[in-house]
Amino acid sequence: MSIPASYQPFVDDIHGMIGLCEGDFELFRTHREFFARNSAALIEAIASVLMTHAPSRATFEEGRGDLESLKGKLAAWVGELLGAHDTPEFWHRQFVIGIEHIVRRIPNRQMVGLATKIREVLLPLMLQEAGHEEGLRLYLAFQRMLDSVVALTTTLVDEGQRRCLLEATGFSPKLVENLQAIVFEKIRAELSPSG
Ligand code: HEM
Repeated sequence: MSIPASYQPFVDDIHGMIGLCEGDFELFRTHREFFARNSAALIEAIASVLMTHAPSRATFEEGRGDLESLKGKLAAWVGELLGAHDTPEFWHRQFVIGIEHIVRRIPNRQMVGLATKIREVLLPLMLQEAGHEEGLRLYLAFQRMLDSVVALTTTLVDEGQRRCLLEATGFSPKLVENLQAIVFEKIRAELSPSG
């Protein structure tokens, strides 16, 4: 699947800044045994974080997702990463992962939060199992992949909100941009010490 042309600049921006590259995918493949040994524990840790954090748990309690289904999908995701390359198909897939969260009304802050928790689990494991230097390389590669998913998800939220405004108001894109600037100035004022 290709990426819609209007989304390509988002990919270029994220790709250029985060720097996820083919070498990162190669590293995942080199360490496939690490993932085979640890993915079950990682998935359990993720499930535990989501069930411990009340706002995340609400996703499942309110029927916006199913925990067992999530565990299965996460296992498939780790498998996918071991076969992935830095291709339009990979980036398309990250958009799909992002939108699956957005339609379930999972806020950006929870995406960022879970990414932090995933890092906290992986860093000691990677250092311990692959040694300091190689473990750090693997960790940084995984971090670039994780940050790419989160960055694309947050980007899709921005894009969806912009499109909501365009559709709801019938304004031109420029007018919507101006309206957003006004609203953000109001928020800035609310947040200022004298506000
Ligand atoms: C860095 C953060 C996250 C990553 C990398 C991630 C990864 C994934 C992946 C790969 C899928 C499968 C998508 C698909 O194939 O359709 C998925 C689905 C899902 N994720 Fe996440 N996720 C993250 C954060 C979260 C958070 C914070 C929640 C909060 C509750 C969450 C809840 C879900 C749910 C409910 C599903 C669908 C499960 C189902 O009902 O089938 N995820 N996630």
